[in-house]
Amino acid sequence: MDIKTNYLDLADGNRMPQEGFGLYKVDGQETMNASIKSAYDAGYRLFDTAQLYGNEQEVGTAFKELEIPRDQIFVTTKVAENNQGYDQAIASVKESLKKLQMDHVDLLLVHWPIERAFFETWRAFEDMKKAGLTHSIGVSNYQMIHLQYLATKAREMPVVDQIELHPLLTQKPLLKFNQDQQIVTQAWSPLGRGAVLGEEVLKRIADVHHKSPAQVILRWHLQNGVSFIPKSVHAARIQQNAAIYDFTLTDDEMAQIDALNKYQRTGREPELTYEYDKQY
Ligand code: A2P
Repeated sequence: MDIKTNYLDLADGNRMPQEGFGLYKVDGQETMNASIKSAYDAGYRLFDTAQLYGNEQEVGTAFKELEIPRDQIFVTTKVAENNQGYDQAIASVKESLKKLQMDHVDLLLVHWPIERAFFETWRAFEDMKKAGLTHSIGVSNYQMIHLQYLATKAREMPVVDQIELHPLLTQKPLLKFNQDQQIVTQAWSPLGRGAVLGEEVLKRIADVHHKSPAQVILRWHLQNGVSFIPKSVHAARIQQNAAIYDFTLTDDEMAQIDALNKYQRTGREPELTYEYDKQY
């Protein structure tokens, strides 16, 4: 198995690469092209952007300029809070597709749960899937309570929930809930934005396997069965983050990493920010 061939099945019948490339804070056409080229060459096939990142145009241009065939990649974007609502969500996704220079995305996510237009936005997602604007629909930053509330009216449930997830925030109850509901959990900030890389435990495990702490964390995600989307703008790190398919963490090592959990977030707590304009 390697990054290129490693896919997860989604509940709607589609497939998604387990490891992807995060594009948050990858800015400027030159950096974008270089990062996407490094990632594609290293075998990444999932590329994760968002309306909020403000780089969809650059992402689309990079694929065009690098002549990467559309059918070789899996593209995710996310609808921003100010575009929630039935008509607004659809109009904003049409705008995103124009910028991305493609006729559909593979996965469309609601970027954040907010009370205003909670159900209307999801209804728009269901209809956009039917209309072919996206192959799969999902959510981001939804905690259990948001998913349970969504289930009271949804015609179909999200197949992916992208959440902040790393060794300092292991989210075990939500992972279990998502698994039981056939929702694939996807980790954003899988490396905790670097905050966790200096942990002694990780260094020790990394030395045993002749790997880096970042690779150990990504391998932990892989063995947890979740999807994950590390970001880097450095070619060597991009390659390093894809080179995690040739070693295995023991159960004991997995448990040692689990024990790092401190409920420590780099982002806001979604259950406390369930209203418009409080996310960042
Ligand atoms: P950079 O882009 O300068 O390489 P996360 O994905 O958790 O948000 O973390 C991304 C952060 O971790 C970025 O600041 C990125 O920096 C850094 N990073 C990514 N891969 C590695 C790696 N293999 N080793 C060290 N730092 C990394």
